[in-house]
Amino acid sequence: MSNIVLVGAQWGDEGKGKVIDYLTDKVDVVVRSQGGNNAGHTVVVGEKKYILRLIPSGILRRGKLCVIGNGVVIDPIALWEEISELAAHGVKINSRNLLISECAHLVFPFHKTIDEQREAAKGAQKIGTTKRGIGPAYGDKIARVGIRLGELLQPELFAEKLRGRVKEVNLILRDFGQKPIKFKALLDQYLEVGEKIRPLITNTVLTVHKAMAAGKEILFEGAQGTFLDLDHGTYPYVTSSNTTAGGACTGSGIPPNRIDRVVGAMKAYTTRVGEGPFPTQDAQVADLMHSMGREYGAVTGRARRCGWFDSVATRYAQMLNGIDELAVTNLDGLDSLPRLRVCVAYKLDGKKIEVPPTCVRQLAKCVPVYVEVSGWEKSTSETRSFAELPPNAREYLRMICDLTGAKLKLVGVGQSRAQTILV
Ligand code: GDP
Ligand code: IMO
Ligand code: MG
Repeated sequence: MSNIVLVGAQWGDEGKGKVIDYLTDKVDVVVRSQGGNNAGHTVVVGEKKYILRLIPSGILRRGKLCVIGNGVVIDPIALWEEISELAAHGVKINSRNLLISECAHLVFPFHKTIDEQREAAKGAQKIGTTKRGIGPAYGDKIARVGIRLGELLQPELFAEKLRGRVKEVNLILRDFGQKPIKFKALLDQYLEVGEKIRPLITNTVLTVHKAMAAGKEILFEGAQGTFLDLDHGTYPYVTSSNTTAGGACTGSGIPPNRIDRVVGAMKAYTTRVGEGPFPTQDAQVADLMHSMGREYGAVTGRARRCGWFDSVATRYAQMLNGIDELAVTNLDGLDSLPRLRVCVAYKLDGKKIEVPPTCVRQLAKCVPVYVEVSGWEKSTSETRSFAELPPNAREYLRMICDLTGAKLKLVGVGQSRAQTILV
């Protein structure tokens, strides 16, 4: 029996949704432990394409329990929309397949307004957030003025807490030149949605521990990626949660000694959406991906920035997360290229370095050192085993794993479930 943490090893959108969907087949419980509806995890099942935002991607497999842990921030309106969308596609949600932590913090419309206003005020220095209110909601949690899901179920307590919050927030909104919040309307809207999701809300720490005691296997579904981690990412161009493996523990109540394995999801190249340094960014890679209609954001539709594989970054991600195995997705994206570049080091002020600087100003000055390798110039999308892959593709994957310092577990050669090679 083993419990697996799946993390993004780059800047998010590594194909985690597809990898989770694949791995869920073998586990009993799937847990989200951080982030909110800033995440967009794409899963393609047959002809249908689902984009999961708050609900774990495991929900699409029958008989699996999904859990949204205490470390997630929840916009209950967005959650209800997602539940309704899934129901419309025949995926019924109830307390048998989805449980939500009573300790998860709520995202309110005013968090979104503050997110937008802060971004606007930053001008050229903006982070490029998803504008889902994630930073302000986690800010409230850290400042100990946040409101939790369990409190939403206690109308009197919730009204009292929300009233206090609205009083302070209206001062902030006034300074931003925004309209004040209408307390009563907001209260009614949230109490109403609270009633709809009441049956799903519980102490999920107990849920997870009961499952472990019964010998069930758990998969922890990371959102975002290592370099968007609040502590270890390219601060301040990060999200507001711990996206690295430790976040799975704090965000769900599972002790560190119950984690057996860490799988890192990464693309065979690199992408980033939003602002912030990205040493291997490259117009040729971006033009290629966008010409194929790929690499547009699942949540915001923004064109993702694209670049070459960066082993300086993934090696650091391996160390931070303790990545044992890699799931390399989107190998097929590189099929047409005659030559590929692989970043093996950075140069900073003329000096060669092999660890990414923690200061974004320095990272922004880093120039990638590349080695060039031959491409395979052959479609891989019909390939179903490692041995069938073109020799240069196998060599490229070996190089990625050697440079990163982890074993190869999965290779993605297309969007669908079937287009997955188990190594
Ligand atoms: P996530 O946030 O990490 O779950 O990733 P996203 O869903 O935001 O973005 C990954 C994109 O790549 C989605 O459009 C996926 O359908 C797609 N994808 C994942 N794996 C593969 C793959 O191996 N090949 C191709 N062509 N697309 C893939
Ligand atoms: P998944 O789970 C890629 C990025 C935003 C922005 C920064 C902060 O699909 O991989 P936020 O709204 O969180 O305050 O934005 O983080 N970002 C993501 N980028 N994938 C994600 O999620 C992301 N979630 C947030 O673009 O740069
Ligand atoms: Mg995504």
